[in-house]
Amino acid sequence: MAGLLERFRRFDTSRVPSPCFVVDEAALEQNLRLLAGVQQSSGAKILLALKAFSMFSLAPLVSRYLSGTCASGLHEARLGREEFGGEVHTFSAAFTRDDLLQILAISDHVVFNSCDQLDRFEPEIRAARAARPGLEIGLRLNPEHSEGAVPLYDPCAPCSRLGVVHSALRESSLEHVSGLHFHTLCEQDFPPLERTVRAFEERFGDLIPRMKWINFGGGHHITRPGYQVDALITLLREFQSRWGVQVYLEPGEAVAYHCGVMVAEVLDLTHNGMSQAILDTSATCHMPDVIEMPYRPVISGAGDPGQYAYTYRLGGRHHRRLVIPRDAACGLTHRFRGHGLLHDGEDHHLQRYQPAVHRDLELRYGCTARGAPFWLRGFQEPVVLKRKRARCKTQRALSLNG
Ligand SMILES: Cc1ncc(COP(=O)(O)O)c(C=O)c1O
Repeated sequence: MAGLLERFRRFDTSRVPSPCFVVDEAALEQNLRLLAGVQQSSGAKILLALKAFSMFSLAPLVSRYLSGTCASGLHEARLGREEFGGEVHTFSAAFTRDDLLQILAISDHVVFNSCDQLDRFEPEIRAARAARPGLEIGLRLNPEHSEGAVPLYDPCAPCSRLGVVHSALRESSLEHVSGLHFHTLCEQDFPPLERTVRAFEERFGDLIPRMKWINFGGGHHITRPGYQVDALITLLREFQSRWGVQVYLEPGEAVAYHCGVMVAEVLDLTHNGMSQAILDTSATCHMPDVIEMPYRPVISGAGDPGQYAYTYRLGGRHHRRLVIPRDAACGLTHRFRGHGLLHDGEDHHLQRYQPAVHRDLELRYGCTARGAPFWLRGFQEPVVLKRKRARCKTQRALSLNG
């Protein structure tokens, strides 16, 4: 977090509307370079999980480094296909027939979450594969090996609805299946992945020789300092050569790790038993992971309760803008859906980027701004913070200094 705060220390928040999210393009590129290095050294392919980071204004940069995107439904699949390019992999806990028909037409891999859905949609799958022989069908499996500390974020927690457990697997449903998927990690480093892969091989090893690819899902904190990148590369290489399959990773958070902040404004100060600062944002609408995980967001320049002269429930001071590091890309990204697309671009000016909002909403929700979800209220027109890329370091300093 210190690195992220330092990066934005001299960022002049008055240059952007509030609330908004700001992403440091140079930091994103640094993460992408590392991930591209893993791809190159291991032979595995890395996809961006759009559910975690979906700023399509940065799609050209992302697609320069990664192999494609993974989607959790139709609108993300369209975003991947239309804006990012590369491979599009779509997994959903369950598909409706209408969505599935469109997803089958634009995805490279479609991953199902149950044998029942594979059976029910067999005619649609058969027809789609006849029309597009390259289309790959996968099945998400649940290795029943928990590594997560927070049950809500643990897809292997008891009674999880995600992935087929061994006892529910039906051989007869696998006719079209050429790949297997598991996603069991959340913000984890290498040892949990290594143990998960072992558990997966123990439970489902008999299926792997029939497959062309295995998708290890997301939750790998590859770009966090200290992540055991070399061990990951070795595991990926060995797994692929042992089983003769293509491995995919689909991290989200690792792509945008330590790349951005959320800017919010204190609108009022009230008192009822304690001092409160009323912001133009809320955890429910703009940072739901704060409630779900839960965690206490860091605010630039603020400390713990009682540490400084003033203690407010949310920190900050009247008419002061707050900078809240969005360390977790999932936090960053859920908020990006449909609003406030901000990034460092080409020149040095703030530019209105209104058409992007409409397009983003259309892609994500199948609606335009008129029918925007409630949590868009209060967000201003998105802005692209532009800067010259040629002299990256100096220009970034200038840009962040305002
Ligand atoms: C199926 C799947 N793949 C990938 C991801 C991305 O995970 P992360 O952003 O933690 O890397 C998620 C996150 O929930 C997911 O559910």
